[in-house]
Amino acid sequence: MSSKYDETYAAWASDPAGFWGEAGKAIDWFRPADRVFDKDSGAYGRWFAGATCNTCYNCVDRHVEAGKGANTALIYDSPVTGQTASYSFAELQTEVSALAHVLRGLGVEKGDRVVIYMPMVPQAVFAMLACARLGAIHSVVFGGFAAHELATRIDDAAPKAIISASCGIEPGRVIAYKPLLDAAIEMSGVKPDHCVILQRDTLPCDLVDGRDVDYADAVQAAKKAGQGTECVPVAATDPLYILYTSGTTGQPKGVVRDNGGHMVALKWTMAHHYGLAPGEVFWAASDVGWVVGHSYICYGPLLHGCGTVVYEGKPVGTPDAGAFWRVIQDHKVVALFTAPTAFRAIKKEDPKGARIAAYDLSHFRTLFLAGERSDPATIEWAQEKLQRPVIDHWWQTETGWAMSGNPVGLGAFPVKLGSPGKPMPGYDIRVLDDDGHEVAPGVLGNIVCKLPLPPSGFPMLWNAEARFRSAYLEEFPGFYATSDAGIIDEDGHVFIMARTDDIINVAGHRLSTGAMEEVIASHPDIAECAVVGAADTMKGQMPLGFFVPNDGAGRRAADLEQELVQLVRSKIGAVAAFKTAVEVMRLPKTRSGKVLRGTMQKIADGAAFKIPAAIDDPAILTEIEAALNARNLIGQKA
Ligand code: COA
Ligand code: AMP
Repeated sequence: MSSKYDETYAAWASDPAGFWGEAGKAIDWFRPADRVFDKDSGAYGRWFAGATCNTCYNCVDRHVEAGKGANTALIYDSPVTGQTASYSFAELQTEVSALAHVLRGLGVEKGDRVVIYMPMVPQAVFAMLACARLGAIHSVVFGGFAAHELATRIDDAAPKAIISASCGIEPGRVIAYKPLLDAAIEMSGVKPDHCVILQRDTLPCDLVDGRDVDYADAVQAAKKAGQGTECVPVAATDPLYILYTSGTTGQPKGVVRDNGGHMVALKWTMAHHYGLAPGEVFWAASDVGWVVGHSYICYGPLLHGCGTVVYEGKPVGTPDAGAFWRVIQDHKVVALFTAPTAFRAIKKEDPKGARIAAYDLSHFRTLFLAGERSDPATIEWAQEKLQRPVIDHWWQTETGWAMSGNPVGLGAFPVKLGSPGKPMPGYDIRVLDDDGHEVAPGVLGNIVCKLPLPPSGFPMLWNAEARFRSAYLEEFPGFYATSDAGIIDEDGHVFIMARTDDIINVAGHRLSTGAMEEVIASHPDIAECAVVGAADTMKGQMPLGFFVPNDGAGRRAADLEQELVQLVRSKIGAVAAFKTAVEVMRLPKTRSGKVLRGTMQKIADGAAFKIPAAIDDPAILTEIEAALNARNLIGQKA
């Protein structure tokens, strides 16, 4: 089929409110919007102002009411525990309604925050939906973050309750979550009234008297007594969730997502971008702790009446590089969405793709990649081995859905390797130079998006109005600054090349080098430090630390390195993947004292670099090169 992309994008561009108003008809509203777009509210306007709705109702109850209660809603597949389970929409409704009742009994009401710190189990999705049902605002924290990161989020979100589990299970390693949770609550200034804890057989935990509630017992009791909750009407503009994402400091940014616009945008993408029909199975092999997990493990598929897969495993090692094909076969997955790093891991273990033939992939239509740059070699490998379209699309926590992509449901246009497609309807994407002037096609610059952001775009940062404006809106007035650099070519294809801030992308995980530097600098023997993202063939980038010890510290470099690695792991978490720190005598700086991280990164990558004009002492670059050479760390990429 020929692509309807151009005409669809043009239809949006000529009448954005009409376009989204039409898309909004796919959502069940309790009260319709007064205006599809209210340009006078919020920092840049608000979508579906005046409407009331409930996201859980649209994800769950309306399908049951429409006679689809027996359809599959959620499939749990856990190679790390050997368990699988399936929930119909009716069963999902029972679980979510009972949990919402438990939460309400613990005092959680509309507008209250609830932190969710869970592994990839169905109860993580139930918890999100139960909050949505009550109009409470959830904030999911990725399980790979350590106590300190969790505490920072608890402090900022000030939750009334926390929902967690006794443990998470990584291949070959059980992570006791409860001690991390208890430590985080101890550290934070805000104490939740209650914690609802899912006890897992692999590693149960002790519960704190009076504070902790056993998830299974409480939900079971509510179900037995036939107790549930109604879907509480909220304003379309009320927050559905806060999702913290890395910023330039150790204080993460709380991205706020609203209810109405979010539903409209995600529902639209399910049919038009991903090409799914209700009743089909969609699988986002991500984690509920990331935005991809929010949008496409939980909300998107369920809004569309699709089945969604909650996979507690990895692309390799659980048990082998055929894991993804097995899940696609067993659950009749139609579209898989994952990060390119997962495919690089599979390709490394099974370069010929030999395991693919062992499985029946007859239902599988499309592979979607996002989260980091898709290198052409990975895309070509996937195209050749799967003989199916491989679609790269680009998005951010801040938007909640793809800013650029290739809409399969509208008929995909030909893929250009290295490009995550063209702007999606809703996004007027431009490339500007540092002075805010638009550059010619093919010229590298700052990627920005003309305001307003479309439905689902974040209206604010939680508790951080000034930061919201300074980080996103002030640099290029009238535009949302994405902090990505790239180009748009003559044909309108977008290419994302790099971040313009100190964020690095490790295995599709967005991490702040600034946050790692804050942790390293807290070590008593460290005078100063810098962290850069060095190229890595598997994970895209890996953090690489440089440290200058205090005069007279008298410590062995290897000992200090180990202590710093441990410190980052214990403060930020294993997900930081911080494994290497190199001792240097001095850090290269500009005359005004700015550390030249970009140049250090180029040295580490073995890439060509120019000596920055403003450098204070060029000899330091030679010292950096020598320190990396001595450890054989230049251009390692693996
Ligand atoms: N809870 C606790 N720890 C976790 C965790 C979780 N939910 N997820 C990851 N970790 C730990 C890992 O065990 C690892 O610990 P280690 O240093 O002791 O080995 C560390 O965090 C780094 O994890 P990761 O970067 O994921 O690397 P990995 O070596 O475990 O796996 C891949 C490599 C490629 C298989 C894996 O990164 C992957 O599947 N990535 C997909 C990325 C993705 O889904 N991104 C989301 C955006 S779409
Ligand atoms: P996150 O907010 O965690 O989703 O990370 C968003 C960042 O990941 C973006 O700003 C990009 O730097 C990067 N990113 C996401 N998707 C892509 C993609 N398809 N191509 C290149 N970079 C991407």
